[in-house]
Amino acid sequence: MHQALENGHASGDGPFTKKCQTMMEQSLGVPRALLTTSCTHALEMCALLLDLQPGDEVIVPDFTFVSTANAFALRGARIVFADIRPDTLNIDETQLERLITPRTRAVVPVHYAGVGCEMDVILDIARRHGIAVVEDNAHGLFGKYKGRYLGTFGCLATQSFHETKNITCGEGGALLINDPKYIERAEIIREKGTNRSRFFRGQVDKYTWVDFGSSYVLSDLLAAFLFAQLERWEEIQRRRRAIWETYYNGLVDWASKNDVRLPIVPPHCEQAYHMFYLILPSLEARQALIAHLRARDILSVFHYLPLHMSDMGRRYGARRGQCPITQSTSDRLLRLPFFNELEGRVLERVVEAVREFSP
Ligand SMILES: Cc1ncc(COP(=O)(O)O)c(C=O)c1O
Repeated sequence: MHQALENGHASGDGPFTKKCQTMMEQSLGVPRALLTTSCTHALEMCALLLDLQPGDEVIVPDFTFVSTANAFALRGARIVFADIRPDTLNIDETQLERLITPRTRAVVPVHYAGVGCEMDVILDIARRHGIAVVEDNAHGLFGKYKGRYLGTFGCLATQSFHETKNITCGEGGALLINDPKYIERAEIIREKGTNRSRFFRGQVDKYTWVDFGSSYVLSDLLAAFLFAQLERWEEIQRRRRAIWETYYNGLVDWASKNDVRLPIVPPHCEQAYHMFYLILPSLEARQALIAHLRARDILSVFHYLPLHMSDMGRRYGARRGQCPITQSTSDRLLRLPFFNELEGRVLERVVEAVREFSP
């Protein structure tokens, strides 16, 4: 941060932005990474890059954050909700084919909790139907599916550096571009619809308005904050793995006695250790555990409400009951505290407090 301030480059695309982007390109093996102001904005860039038109359809998992859908809804796309798998809570790839119509343009798998979706199947279906795959990898930086980094499968992928994420600059994100045909236009869209990047590379002698776009560039001050963590990503992931394993090992017998389900990570997935959740037997049990922990000064929280049941979901013609696994998961899931500094006695106290509870 000091260095960034001394550089006198507080706006975007300064030396730290370049360092972050190069680091992601090299460590993940993606042709181009662009820092953005958020994952939401990176998703909006995807919708612009895909040239979505009103009436085009985009399939998203019902169990996700609003932005996964909203970024595409903003371009007039009709949002189609897919239910999730009961094990990983990721989009149920076996439902995809049924949801595809001639208007389907994209599917947006979300790697929930940083555990990979069934990308082989999803990519095969998308290829056969000529639809784009955009990975919402907000949770999954440095997670892997079958040995390959999440975020490297779709033609485009997005990352979040929001303060709730493993690596953060408060608010921030990235667009990963795996299909090089999108690179030049992505640079333009990110730079307010101008060819400023080409100008700085000396490829044009002035820059001007050439396309749609907005202001999606992250300040270099935030990039400096981010780079300090990206440099130490392996250590951060090691710490988070230790927290996750402490929870798992400390709760596995309690969970099986109390009909509570712990996260499932298929053997072909290396997770990103983004969160630790419990699935309680009922909504009442989940609420009771939240209250039990709150009484011990421990903050636990639920997660997404089913998008299809929201006011906006209903506008897209969604019907109550169309995504039963999402509904049931949303009622029963609880997230335990999970941040990089969580360790020692504080972490043990959370485990003990959960074990004192029986649903
Ligand atoms: C799956 C998913 N996608 C997108 C986002 C939005 O991220 P951001 O806050 O960086 O816009 C979130 C936020 O947590 C998320 O969980």
